[in-house]
Amino acid sequence: MKITVVGAGGNVGSTVALAIAQRDFAKQVIAVDLEIKKDGKSFFPSKGRALDQWQTSPILSFDTHVSGTIDYADTAGSDICVITAGLPRRPGMSRDDLLSANRDIVKSVTEKLVEHSPDTIIVVVSNPLDLMTYVAWKASGLPPSKVMGMAGILDTARFRAFLAEEINVSPKDIQALILGGHGDSMVPLPRYTTVSGIPIRHFIGEDKLNAIIERTKTGGGELVGLMGTSAWYAPGAAAAQMVEAIALDQNRILPCAAFLDGQYGLKDLYVGVPVLLGKGGIKEVIEIDLDQEEKALLQTSADHVKKGLDDLSRLN
Ligand code: LAC
Repeated sequence: MKITVVGAGGNVGSTVALAIAQRDFAKQVIAVDLEIKKDGKSFFPSKGRALDQWQTSPILSFDTHVSGTIDYADTAGSDICVITAGLPRRPGMSRDDLLSANRDIVKSVTEKLVEHSPDTIIVVVSNPLDLMTYVAWKASGLPPSKVMGMAGILDTARFRAFLAEEINVSPKDIQALILGGHGDSMVPLPRYTTVSGIPIRHFIGEDKLNAIIERTKTGGGELVGLMGTSAWYAPGAAAAQMVEAIALDQNRILPCAAFLDGQYGLKDLYVGVPVLLGKGGIKEVIEIDLDQEEKALLQTSADHVKKGLDDLSRLN
């Protein structure tokens, strides 16, 4: 199993690479990024970070070989490619502000990946997530089952972590679901949130629950405000979980940005929904029952993604 991570000289990409290596299911991880020129000198962050990571293998106890490159020829024959390349958010920016710059980056990265690995599976992490996943899908020529975006695992992880802290239980016991785009209009679903099968409302009052839902929706922005750039530990861990589910054919049910072709009444867009993830990528988009309010919230979120797709097509 060969996994490529593009953007691995950056925070998210290098976190994905190390999280995959630590899970120890892959033969090798190829970490790709650009050469950087500074003060007349050349630097190779993907090579440096990969070398540093490989040197953790005796201590952290994994066999997955991690190596860095700037040459896409080294990615040839990758089973799964993760795209984290692109500009991160800065304070005051929405994910959508990254649209035109990251569109060009994601398109060209995808073309280079598919040239060397025509049958690969692609997991997109670059923002704005739902739109960049669409861009990668179009540029790849791959079936939609093989191109997906990482957002829902991250967003539900934030939701679960906030809930765990509030009600003082293990985050491992909290199951949750968030639908919609990876933006402030995402749709956390308390009706589908439990603590070991017990409905979440058994443990928390409506006011606190609503406050946590709001905090979750702006969870990425909270971190940008604290760090001056976007998050990487949870995004990286979430992408690695998707890669593992595919690589080991785990049949995990996870919220991912998937291409919809009529499911949930939505068509021709990528948006977050629960999927069955395993060998070959997305085996099934799982349609759950939604009440009127949940449907309306999902529609608003999907409308926001659709508007982004319109902006994208105007850029073309
Ligand atoms: C976040 C970025 C990665 O939500 O979108 O932190």
